[in-house]
Amino acid sequence: MPTSHLIADRTKQIEVSGIRKVFELGRSLKDPINLSIGQPHFPVPDSIKNAAKDAIDRNLNGYTVTQGVSELRERILADLKLRYGHADRDVIITSGTSGGLLLAMMAVVNPGDEVIIPDPYFVSYPHLVTLVGGKSVYVDTYPDFTIDPDRIEAAITPKTKVILVCSPANPTGATVSPEVQMALAAIADKHGVLLLSDEIYRAFHYDETPQSPTSYSENVLVIEGYGKTYGMTGWRLGFAHGPKAIVDEMMKLQQFTFVCAPSIVQYAGIVAMDFDVTGIVADYKQKRDRICAGLRDRFEFNSPGGAFYLFPKAPWGTGTEFVTEAVKNSLLIIPGGVFSKRDSHFRISYAAKDETLDRGIEVLNRLAEQK
Ligand SMILES: Cc1ncc(COP(=O)(O)O)c(C=O)c1O
Repeated sequence: MPTSHLIADRTKQIEVSGIRKVFELGRSLKDPINLSIGQPHFPVPDSIKNAAKDAIDRNLNGYTVTQGVSELRERILADLKLRYGHADRDVIITSGTSGGLLLAMMAVVNPGDEVIIPDPYFVSYPHLVTLVGGKSVYVDTYPDFTIDPDRIEAAITPKTKVILVCSPANPTGATVSPEVQMALAAIADKHGVLLLSDEIYRAFHYDETPQSPTSYSENVLVIEGYGKTYGMTGWRLGFAHGPKAIVDEMMKLQQFTFVCAPSIVQYAGIVAMDFDVTGIVADYKQKRDRICAGLRDRFEFNSPGGAFYLFPKAPWGTGTEFVTEAVKNSLLIIPGGVFSKRDSHFRISYAAKDETLDRGIEVLNRLAEQK
């Protein structure tokens, strides 16, 4: 039976991730230099692995309460109290950061509502907005990926529901300064829209202490995650915190969708909170410096303040043309058009061994000379 008529219109509007396409291309290569994957290259620390194994052995394998196990929520809430001191801030444990983002969108965006997204953006954002019937409104941040609060405010219309920001950002590694965070929080409050802050890379700040617009307004909804921080992306653990009234709605939706975040991973998450990531972050800072030094002479880019990405301008051609040539040379990187309305840049993930980074740097410098 033909099945295309069965597929919903909303699903037809969504294309397969451009990142997956590069993965597929890479499968045919022998020993590729893989700088395409947005996940840490280190293994999950032993204490966290053991906590997950222990949770299985303690038979903690059933459903948990929808909002997440109380020990983990209480740890996070205590942390949030210290950071922000908001009386009304509540937390829900989610199935990865993606789970939190989807629940947030479902909770607040009506069909036809607009979501303002600085461009470049994380690949999922436009699709999540489409899924809930919203409309993405992009605000260009090239060439230095600094968010201009005036341009964000100018994009607000009576239909705007959400301003979605990410710091440190994927794919640029750019961080939003405290001044801009404060301005964005004030704009959101002034216009009665939700500031949704994706802080999955919070641990990976190299030049400054972690910042959040939550320091400037009680109304900010934040998404955080464990996957990147502890190398456990496949375990699917994240959390959202924000005004109780919104978090309550997300809980209601979680009950009938994800049900709960994976149980054993929630218990491992409690132990993860005691793991000191200073060494990991220092290592990634050194990788940031290594890739920047290696490419500085032949590429234009902004030195990223966080996450583990670099987003240089293609030295010739479009992002796609340059990446196609790179893949022919066994180097897997992602064309900028996957994360942007423009196709002029490309993304490197430097979450890799130094030796892999050096091989990638060599290929990129060679390709830059080619045309
Ligand atoms: C900015 C950003 N937000 C959310 C996610 C999704 O993370 P998770 O694996 O926790 O769903 C990613 C993953 O790459 C990301 O880069």
